Amino acid sequence: MKTEIYAHRGSSLQAPENTMAAFQLAFQQGAQGIETDVQLTKDNIPVLIHDERVNRTTDGKGYVKDYTFKQLKQLDAGAWFSTEFAGATIPSLEEFLKWIGGKPLTLNIELKNNKIDYKNMETIVYDLLRSYDLLDRTILSTFNPNSVQRLRRISQHLNCALLRSRKKRQLISYAKELGANAIHIKYRLLSKSLVQQCKQQRLHIRVYTVNHPKQILRCLDLDVNGIITDVPNIAISYSRKV
Ligand code: G3P
Ligand code: MG
Repeated sequence: MKTEIYAHRGSSLQAPENTMAAFQLAFQQGAQGIETDVQLTKDNIPVLIHDERVNRTTDGKGYVKDYTFKQLKQLDAGAWFSTEFAGATIPSLEEFLKWIGGKPLTLNIELKNNKIDYKNMETIVYDLLRSYDLLDRTILSTFNPNSVQRLRRISQHLNCALLRSRKKRQLISYAKELGANAIHIKYRLLSKSLVQQCKQQRLHIRVYTVNHPKQILRCLDLDVNGIITDVPNIAISYSRKV
């Protein structure tokens, strides 16, 4: 199968990450999938924001987990990026699922539960995806190995990826034992032999965050399953040439 291009937090070089504007732009640019990050509010609403705290990407302060959804929605998630995007808010996962429903996009929902292991996050997200009938085109990913195991216990059928930024011996067998059917690795962990082993072991391999043309071309050449990039427009133009 051809390498799929995933927009990392949406088209996040040209629009504020993890906002509807960034997702919309990624779709217009021809991305095949969208990667986004989920945290939970105080009232257990899954929301799309990368950091545990709102400080970097909004005009607020403090932890997502200490805000109710209603309070979180008061924050501006676009002005930090540029005045053009002032007034953008943190989307709920549900808002994103409603938007994506009719579009031919793959979802990569990253559970941000490696620093705060949010209680019941897996079931909350899974139930929502099921209610929108989106499980078939969703990949759930996480850096948290316990969460991979919990996801696999919820369903034998869901697509689940172990995220990894640091080297690990026997990564493939480790991921498989946890119940993952894919690994999402940082670019510096990529090697030809790892890709070959993944193919032999029937484990999908996707790579993040691949922004430079040289890196994009190497991923395409190695025929990885997916590239997760801040610049889907550039990655798409290369993938059309290959
Ligand atoms: O899912 C790939 C990538 O997003 C993982 O790292 O920190 O950008 O969420 P991070
Ligand atoms: Mg992410």
